[in-house]
Amino acid sequence: MKQNYEDRGELGKYNFNNKLNNLTGKQWIKFTKSWFIHNPPPRGKKKILHPASFPESLVKIFIEFFTKEKQTVLDPFLGTGSTLVACRSASRNGIGIELLEKYGEIAKSNLKQKSMDKFTEDFADLYHDVLIGDSHNLEKLLKDKYGEIPSIDFCITSPPYWDQLKRSSMRQKERKEKNWDTHYSEDSRDIGNISNYNEFLLEQKKIFDEVYKVMKNKGYLVVITNNVFADGRIYPLAFDTVKSLSSNWVPKDEKIWLQNDKPLIPLGVNSAWVGNRHHQYCLIFRKEEKNE
Ligand SMILES: C[S@@+](CC[C@H](N)C(=O)[O-])C[C@H]1O[C@@H](n2cnc3c(N)ncnc32)[C@H](O)[C@@H]1O
Repeated sequence: MKQNYEDRGELGKYNFNNKLNNLTGKQWIKFTKSWFIHNPPPRGKKKILHPASFPESLVKIFIEFFTKEKQTVLDPFLGTGSTLVACRSASRNGIGIELLEKYGEIAKSNLKQKSMDKFTEDFADLYHDVLIGDSHNLEKLLKDKYGEIPSIDFCITSPPYWDQLKRSSMRQKERKEKNWDTHYSEDSRDIGNISNYNEFLLEQKKIFDEVYKVMKNKGYLVVITNNVFADGRIYPLAFDTVKSLSSNWVPKDEKIWLQNDKPLIPLGVNSAWVGNRHHQYCLIFRKEEKNE
């Protein structure tokens, strides 16, 4: 009788009935832990070009869990293109939308520099597209580009953390001094420019409603965000994001990314509590329509 699994030695056994990914059971279980430490390689030039990019190596582990090879991943807040670079290296298709041309161009050039881990004939049709536009119009942008909207299997993204970058902070000081971008733009469509907290939540939700429309049923969404300390208090942005998106997306879990490599800075010492926030939330949602 033909066995229904492939033995991958130390990595464990891959079950051919696995519906979600190309991982073994052992790799699957490891990923389900609710926190992880991820210390990416130094970001060099990337850190200079964009004020808040996430590491490709981190996106890649999520992509490898939530998709199979050759499936299609979407990022509606692409920035300098980490998600597409991760897709390329993981042999997935990728579509990224970025409002600002300056970051879209950097994304394209980053993509040119990254080859696929597996580059065989079999993967020659994979595509990694940077679309410049406002993700409020995501469905239309996809229609204009592809005619028929491609089936989106997974979305991973990191939206602006409200207008946090526009608030001066000790971490921004170095960027300001070096004349690097401290925030994305002055464009009114950039949701990082919305100063009213509730309005921000609403506009963020509208974009994820667009993502919902193009996502396949049972597809997952991962939103990387954080609570924000501003005006002497915490705004629970991560928790409110779960609440506001849950009107259609089904919230499934959070995975907490522990940033063990960030230097501690003296905040409020000898005076009052101000935390060194060295973690971020990777919020997991799923589209689950009952009528299918
Ligand atoms: C946190 S950054 C994403 C960084 C990205 N993960 C990376 O690694 O470079 C958020 C991005 O969303 C973009 N953005 C803001 N509002 C947008 C909108 N309405 N449509 C599309 N992109 C938008 C900003 O220009 C910014 O580059």
